[in-house]
Amino acid sequence: MNDSCVYLVGAGPGDPDLLTIKALRLIENADVIVYDRLVSDEIINLIPAGVAKIFVGKETGRHSLPQDDINKLLVNLAQVNETKGHRYIVRLKGGDPFIFGRGGEEAIVLARHGIKFEIVPGITSAMACAAYAGIPLTHRGLADGVHFITGHRRADLELEIDQGALRDKNCTLAVYMGLGNLQTIINAVLDAGRPSSTPVAVIEQGTTSQQRHLITELSNLMMDISDADISPPAMVVIGEVVSLAKILDWFQPVMEEDLQQSTA
Ligand SMILES: C[S@@+](CC[C@H](N)C(=O)[O-])C[C@H]1O[C@@H](n2cnc3c(N)ncnc32)[C@H](O)[C@@H]1O
Repeated sequence: MNDSCVYLVGAGPGDPDLLTIKALRLIENADVIVYDRLVSDEIINLIPAGVAKIFVGKETGRHSLPQDDINKLLVNLAQVNETKGHRYIVRLKGGDPFIFGRGGEEAIVLARHGIKFEIVPGITSAMACAAYAGIPLTHRGLADGVHFITGHRRADLELEIDQGALRDKNCTLAVYMGLGNLQTIINAVLDAGRPSSTPVAVIEQGTTSQQRHLITELSNLMMDISDADISPPAMVVIGEVVSLAKILDWFQPVMEEDLQQSTA
């Protein structure tokens, strides 16, 4: 009998302190861990020595292992259980597996093969990056909702952004994978009737010791992003709530150099 289980585990946005207790317990007890590029080094360092680690890469436009191959890998790992002893297979993903994480596709394949699986939610990057930049995604009087949208499009398709979400001025927009199509996104937001003075935050490597963030407005976004030389992974947050960052900006990342100096 095959008693393997594949755990689709959200690793959160980077800060290891944001892992759930369940995620940490599974990482510590896994037989094999299959992980993405967005899982931070600090979290990878928590994997006990001797646990097999399989990196499957994945970043916008450059997949080290195509999704179909990742699906097959998970199925194979579960099916070779008896010979190799892969009982606990942890599929570790950045953020939450079900938010722009293709966790649904992986779970469907496992279900179709009759393989046991569990989903372990993680803190998604929109929530975490906003919190670490001092931006409440909703705030009475400024935003009564939030839309999580993607700025990524498949190479063969036009970027289609949900116009309803853009027009919904009382809602914050949290844009995942937005850097590559930023001008298109800005144009769409302006066309939907949001003012060019709308505040915008871009948070790079949110929650990690490398976090940087930029606060600007829609009309200056392209120029400011290029001046600040922001690169992925980055979260774009658009809406009046961003104005609160000047009061609530609390996170002071400790850079590695500072750590080295303080322990020297
Ligand atoms: C493929 S999506 C995966 C999202 C993930 N499942 C989640 O729930 O956060 C990758 C995008 O998430 C965002 N992202 C993930 N981690 C981030 C971080 N630490 N800082 C900023 N953005 C991040 C970026 O927009 C990145 O392009």
